[in-house]
Formats: sequence, C-alpha cells, structure tokens
Amino acid sequence: MSEIVVIGAGVVGLTSAVALQEAGYPVRVVAAERPEQTTSAAAGALWYPFEVGPPDAVNRWARATREWLLQLSRNTPEAGVDVLTARECVADARRPWWADSVDGLRLIEGPQPSGGRLAWEFEAPRVEPALHLRWLESRLSRPIEIARVDRTDDVPGDLVVNCTGIGARRLTGDTTLHALLGQTVLVEPGEVDLGKMYGDERDLSAMLYVIPRRTEVVLGGCALPFDGDVLPPPDPALRAAFLERARAAGFRHGRVLRDAVGLRPVRPEVRVEREERVIHHYGHGGAGYTLAWGSAGDVVALARG
Ligand code: BEZ
Repeated sequence: MSEIVVIGAGVVGLTSAVALQEAGYPVRVVAAERPEQTTSAAAGALWYPFEVGPPDAVNRWARATREWLLQLSRNTPEAGVDVLTARECVADARRPWWADSVDGLRLIEGPQPSGGRLAWEFEAPRVEPALHLRWLESRLSRPIEIARVDRTDDVPGDLVVNCTGIGARRLTGDTTLHALLGQTVLVEPGEVDLGKMYGDERDLSAMLYVIPRRTEVVLGGCALPFDGDVLPPPDPALRAAFLERARAAGFRHGRVLRDAVGLRPVRPEVRVEREERVIHHYGHGGAGYTLAWGSAGDVVALARG
C-alpha cells in the first residue's frame, strides 16, 4: 500500500495520520513543530464550529467529529475528552447555521450572564489539548519527525497530506488563507462550575468564553486579523479585558495561571483537495478539534482515489 507522509502535527495532522493508519496505510508524520508548540495546543478546544466554512461540509464533518469525540469521552479517558453543557448567548432566535451538526439543541429564554436574553444550549465535547495531542501521538506507529518542509516536491512518499495550518500560506502560496489571532488566559476554577461552558460571540471585538477543563478554566477570547505567521507574545491588555469580561458576567474563578496564544488558519472554505500526489487538508479556522475526524474521513477517501 502507498506510503503516506502527513506534514503537520497539530490536531488536524495527527488525526489525519491516525485515520489513514486505521485505513491500513503506512504513515509518517513530518512537522516543523512538536504538537505542544502548535495552535492546537493553545486552543480552547471546545466542539463548536467557529470561523469556518462552508456550512454544508462543516455540518457533515462537525457531526461526524462530535460522534467520535462523544465515543472517546465514554471509552477512552486518556484521550482527554469530556462532555459539557454548552450555552451560547445569541442576539435572536434564528436557528444557527451549524444547527444540523448537533442533536438536542434547545433555545433558552431569560437573562444571560453576559447581558443577553437568548441562548442556545447543547451538549458539547470539550478536549484537553495536552492529553488529546499526546494520545493521538501515542497511536502513531512511528515517531513524529521534526523537520521544516519548504516544498511538497521534496517530501518522499507516494502521497503527501498537507496539514500545515497557517503554514500552508508559505508552503502553497494560498492567498485566501489568513491568520486570526487567538489569545486566552487560564485560571484556577475557583467557584466556576466545571460542567458548564458559556460563550457570547455577539460582538467579536468583545467576546467572552468560559471553557472549563478538568483542573483549570479557559477564559477568552479574541479573533483578531493578524498579518504574518510568527506568533506574537501574549498581550497583557487582552488578558486584562478577558478577566474583566468574566468578572462582569459573574464568573468567580481562582488564581491566574498563564496565557495562551495561537494563529487560527482561516479560509473562505476548509481545503480538502487532491492535486496529484498532494492532498491539501487545512484552513479549519477556529474549528480544528470540531472538524478534524470528519474531514480526515474525506482525506482517506481521496487517498483511496
Ligand atoms: C481558539 O480557537 O479557541 C484559540 C486558538 C488559538 C489560541 C487561543 C484560542
């Protein structure tokens, strides 16, 4: 069977590698950075289709990935997946564009912590990036090889799967791919309910999300257009803004632990496309964990030709 080289060790690269391996292919992963240095390691990592398209494919991939994550939450605790009750505050009662990807979506009417009066509630898998990336890596039959790839032509193997996230701009010259800077602050839980996520993205310039993990809570966030692919340091003014928004919404968290920063790879449409021996698989925006297993299924189909 053809040997496949996956480029990239974020959640999209590692999940693609695992899916291809399960389909019977010998797989190698080559990446410029270890998983813990990627955007995936910094992400809030809640199942939720954020800043990504196109809607039809996203709904299909998100539904498949949600099922897979729900199964991991039941059978594989070391994969770092738990199910939270997620509440997303909205401006009006129109069904969200991603509604087809989740069962049991319900409209909540009444005052919300961040000031609105309407919210959608649903059960959402939440991933612990450190555990999940380590678990995916542990399933690979060969160690990740650390090397920067400048040209896909230089990569050996019968097939190459390009999962380089924002790095695909440099690797492919794709000018439709842009970075959206994400930053969060991690805090001790304090009195925050670890079973419930809350989000309000009605105004992207002042959004709030509170995503509990097993022993800490992610407070965010932002989605700021960013020129370049070198990660900036955390901005203390953003940290202060996130803490203030969470305080104003009544979340009584504990001590501040650290910041996290990452560059989301945003494109009008996620690219899942084969060009001769290269399968492109990037542009998952703020939805890498939400889509990775579903879109990796399409990569497997493209590999089979
Ligand atoms: C996010 O999409 O949740 C995210 C991505 C990078 C850094 C911070 C948050």
